[in-house]
Amino acid sequence: MTGGAPNSEAADGPAVYLDATFGRGGHALALLERLGPEDRLIAVDRDPEAVRAGERLADSEPRLRVRRSRFSALAEVLETEGVTEVRGVIMDLGVSSPQLDEPARGFSFRTSGPIDMRMDPEEGESAGEWLNRADEKEIAQVIRTYGEERHANRIAAAIVRARPLSDTRVLADVIRSAIPARRPVRGEKKSDEATRSFQAIRMHVNEELAEIETGIRAAFGVLQPGGRLAVISFHSLEDRTVKRVFRALARGPVLPKGLPVRAADVEPAGKIVGGPVRAGERELAANPRARSATLRVLERLH
Ligand SMILES: C[S@@+](CC[C@H](N)C(=O)[O-])C[C@H]1O[C@@H](n2cnc3c(N)ncnc32)[C@H](O)[C@@H]1O
Repeated sequence: MTGGAPNSEAADGPAVYLDATFGRGGHALALLERLGPEDRLIAVDRDPEAVRAGERLADSEPRLRVRRSRFSALAEVLETEGVTEVRGVIMDLGVSSPQLDEPARGFSFRTSGPIDMRMDPEEGESAGEWLNRADEKEIAQVIRTYGEERHANRIAAAIVRARPLSDTRVLADVIRSAIPARRPVRGEKKSDEATRSFQAIRMHVNEELAEIETGIRAAFGVLQPGGRLAVISFHSLEDRTVKRVFRALARGPVLPKGLPVRAADVEPAGKIVGGPVRAGERELAANPRARSATLRVLERLH
């Protein structure tokens, strides 16, 4: 899903870019390879481990600055860096492979670990704390909404019966045991039955959909005219949110009919660039986790 190179420094003078989801710096490194010597890259992540990895990279890369923050607060981060506008923003949504693969972070339903699931383990309530105190209705609602799980009521009831819960593997077994067995459909690739509920709990604990909406609006707000925002989503709930917010920004303000306004006031400030982009075969062979990724791009017009 690698797109074209950002506008070159030679053509437009030094520019600032923003990586709103640093992770382990895969995108940041790819960007730095293409930026000019005077360009800058500011990277943000809410995960302190990602930020530590970024700071190590920044020690030998003077064009990179890494800051710990939610991307919904990216405008404040830029302000403290003395930056008012950027030429491009990349947001690669969801959790990183190190977060998923490290049992101690509590995201994985395949291994034993504390039920944490916070991208920033120093902020807010862990998934375990929430699951052990929330009422059954609230748990069912979260699992239904963010996991699109038909059996949310049964799962929530099983979780409440099994409390207190402290281990991700036990939680996964409780979830699986609440889902009625069904005959496999021929040719169907079955995913683990705990997947949807774990996704839902994680999204709730990290307030992910609200972050996406506020983050996209914040990123759009700091783009210079002609600047672009690229967002990669990993599942349909995320992608629907990205699509809805992009459309709203590309539609411009909705004003009551008959209001005397100048054309410039109602001209949309954003333009959706191309359609959704998915990973090709070569990329999938190298990175199977890109299977469900969708890239969308929005440009700032004025
Ligand atoms: C899919 S990974 C990014 C991987 C990265 N592009 C790379 O090349 O290594 C998503 C990262 O975004 C971070 N993240 C997710 N939501 C965030 C938010 N609202 N604010 C800041 N960081 C966030 C996660 O902590 C995680 O490190």
